[in-house]
Amino acid sequence: MTRIYLETYGCQMNEADSELMSGVLVRAGFELVGDPAAADILLLNTCAVREHAEQRVLGRITDLARHKQARPGVLLGVTGCMAQHLRGRLLEHSRWLDLVIGPDSYRDLPELLARAARGPVARAEPDPAETYGDLEPLRAPGVRAWVPVQRGCDKFCAYCIVPFTRGRERSLPLEHGLREIRRAVAGGCREVVLLGQTVNSWHDGGRDFADLLRAARAVEGLLRLRFVSPHPAHMTPRLVETMAEGGPVCPQLHLPLQSAADPVLAAMGRGHTLADYDDVVRRLRAAVPDLALSTDVIVGFPGETAADFACTEEYLRATRFDSAFLFKYSSRPGTRAAALPETVTEEEKNHRLARLIALQHDVAAS
Ligand code: SAH
Ligand code: SF4
Ligand code: F3S
Repeated sequence: MTRIYLETYGCQMNEADSELMSGVLVRAGFELVGDPAAADILLLNTCAVREHAEQRVLGRITDLARHKQARPGVLLGVTGCMAQHLRGRLLEHSRWLDLVIGPDSYRDLPELLARAARGPVARAEPDPAETYGDLEPLRAPGVRAWVPVQRGCDKFCAYCIVPFTRGRERSLPLEHGLREIRRAVAGGCREVVLLGQTVNSWHDGGRDFADLLRAARAVEGLLRLRFVSPHPAHMTPRLVETMAEGGPVCPQLHLPLQSAADPVLAAMGRGHTLADYDDVVRRLRAAVPDLALSTDVIVGFPGETAADFACTEEYLRATRFDSAFLFKYSSRPGTRAAALPETVTEEEKNHRLARLIALQHDVAAS
């Protein structure tokens, strides 16, 4: 039996994809092992969202290559967003790699692995119709289950690689999503997290995300229901109302802000102003009084002035998020922002990041 070691980087979507791959592999007769030294095939399911994420994986490839040196015949492969982003170039970059597989090709993993034994394989064609809605994942044990209900992203925020790595936005049919939730609950999960890059733009025919949430919360045995990441532009009054109705729907939301300066939001192409975002926050907090609210912020986007940054500081101070993921802007080749001159020095980015970390720390402590 061929033994596979799978290591996962990046967001929950990648965690869910690793569970999907595990299902495909085990059904095809492969055995999953937790120790790279005991495996015949080593796979890294990767993230490309910031340069740092890619550097980590490149380091890990070199690291794992020693298993190939020690045991000829061992295969080393990269799947996920970095595989899609760099494709065949990855094979050229690292002589250790045997396999490069993009996120739309997991259905064919067993066949691609068999081919890789005869020579390097790269498969990274986007498939805008692939939702894997019919494939059963092999979930990590635990009370919480990831259930992807949407793949890809059509927003093309100027800084972001995801639409290039994950392809066009597509929703799973309502029935497929519900079946996965039922299956997770039957398997012992009590909490389901619905996943999508802009999960609340999910739709199936005339049904929108509020309909999906209403159908999902009715699944017997489900105690907690969450979703990530919603986009501010799709936080409809009906969705807020559905959250307010409670039940298994948790009073918790991760709502990415990115910046609180309108010129920066416009340059990022986020599709909303600060006032729009704040309107969502006010509606949410009025409807869901004990809401736990978290966010993402990027500092040092090209063109972000000291005054723009001050807006973000002021907004974080006033809005008092329960937590915030704070990132330094990282230029991603191929995105629109990569063509803009970087106006904020690395030193200044570090300074702005440190200020926000301290500010958020104060907010959380008081
Ligand atoms: N789809 C999610 C976010 C996916 S990426 C959403 O839109 O909410 C997760 C976070 O990484 C983003 O919210 C953003 O804050 C950050 N991010 C994305 N691209 C980045 C880049 N090039 N540099 C720095 N941070 C980035
Ligand atoms: Fe990236 Fe924007 Fe899509 Fe989120 S909504 S994945 S930030 S392009
Ligand atoms: Fe997720 Fe990273 Fe891809 S954040 S979608 S694994 S680029």
